Amino acid sequence: MFSRFSRRHFAKLAGLSALGMAAPARAADGEPRPAADRHAPAPFPKDFVWGTATSSYQIEGAVNEDGRGRSIWDTFSHTPGKIEDGSNGNRANDHYHRYKEDVGLIKNLGARAYRFSIAWPRIFPDGTGAPNPKGVDFYNRLVDELLANGIEPWATLYHWCLPQALQDRVGGWQSSDTSKAFADYSGYMAERLSDRVTNFFTINEAGRFLNFGYGWGIDAPGLKLPAAELNQAMHHVALGHGLAVQAIRAKARPGTRVGPAENITVCVPAYDSPEHVRAAEMATRELNSNFLGVILEGKYTDGFLAWHGKNAPKFTAEELKIISSKNDFVGLNIYAPNYVAASDNKPGWTVLPFPASFPHMNSEWLRIGPEGIYWAPRLAAKIWNIESIYISENGTSSEDKLATDGKVYDLDRIMFLRNYLAQLQRATAEGVPVRGYFLWSLMDNFEWILGYEKRFGVYRVDFETQARVPKLSASFFRDVVAKNAIGV
Ligand code: BGC
Repeated sequence: MFSRFSRRHFAKLAGLSALGMAAPARAADGEPRPAADRHAPAPFPKDFVWGTATSSYQIEGAVNEDGRGRSIWDTFSHTPGKIEDGSNGNRANDHYHRYKEDVGLIKNLGARAYRFSIAWPRIFPDGTGAPNPKGVDFYNRLVDELLANGIEPWATLYHWCLPQALQDRVGGWQSSDTSKAFADYSGYMAERLSDRVTNFFTINEAGRFLNFGYGWGIDAPGLKLPAAELNQAMHHVALGHGLAVQAIRAKARPGTRVGPAENITVCVPAYDSPEHVRAAEMATRELNSNFLGVILEGKYTDGFLAWHGKNAPKFTAEELKIISSKNDFVGLNIYAPNYVAASDNKPGWTVLPFPASFPHMNSEWLRIGPEGIYWAPRLAAKIWNIESIYISENGTSSEDKLATDGKVYDLDRIMFLRNYLAQLQRATAEGVPVRGYFLWSLMDNFEWILGYEKRFGVYRVDFETQARVPKLSASFFRDVVAKNAIGV
């Protein structure tokens, strides 16, 4: 409903436009501007891949259907007090049954790619052993439906759905048995899907799920391991990635491509001066040594090993070789920034504290730093000599209330996306090798410990009726994709 203020404000705007002062744009002399004088939208490279992203536990539901095994997120979300709104992923978006409708939503955006994840416990309900053909069939159906609609499937093999059986038997990622089981499962799926799926992401956000789930105990499986065990578990995740790359190469069709999808610790120079840029580059390498660094360099940095001292992971030269098996691309999930400045003290850089007044989005952790999507790929490409980067996730939650006309005017999401995409365009225009962008998320979904309260979709989902409604940001994104350009 309009408040008194906004009604008055609206009248004033209407008055201005009646006087011809709002549109069309006019030059200082009052003449309408010629078309060439308007700001043309800034173009992305030809063949830039536009897509949206989701993950299995966050949307599928159907947790007890067709032989799916239990995952650590089933257990965790059913543990009282763990999920803020007391919810779980039992039904979520019911995507398991509504995938055809959901493929239609992607098609309506004009996006030609879709990043989804495969639930490991649907394929190997016990983590290892006999596969479950009905689970594989679901992903066959999904992939076929995507292709029939002209949408390229990009599959993620691990978006946090660890079979509970592996957690119970070997302690999950605390054991390298899980790394091996992950590789077997990855090879198995690549063998089955690579006739239709060219691109596989191995592990989504190693840094997040490990620290939150095994370090701080706030994500599944809810452990609080001491530093040495946590670092060792992280090493097993990196090993799982390397072994999976090898298994995919062994089992998939030639031409299949593979890479990680990591939430790189984003380091933005405090401002753009040579010493702060250099500082941000050093910080990017050091702060990402435990996953991106080791998989792309084949070693942990001296700084990382010294920092962790006796708590550093134990490893062999053979493991480092496996971990650094060649990737075809690197996926980067980009959300919040860290600002870095040069320092006279060792190591020559420092991460600056945020003032309490620093702006954030609807999710409090999501501080607004559009330049992050420019600097992170630029610095990563330079440090690790990467030829092909995809933004595997970027997006924001918003309050997303239905207006009285039944629509959602998510102007904050549009503001966020417009600013991040403008910075991404800047990167591509300067030759940073970013080849595509996956918006998180296609539709509102189960936002982990925050349940259904935080909405990240460009489609609004009513979790009672399962109705999907496009938000204003869906038309914004459709416009960007259609133009392959961003207006600023
Ligand atoms: C994860 C998604 C999550 C999103 C928003 C990423 O950390 O990969 O699963 O929903 O961020 O929090």
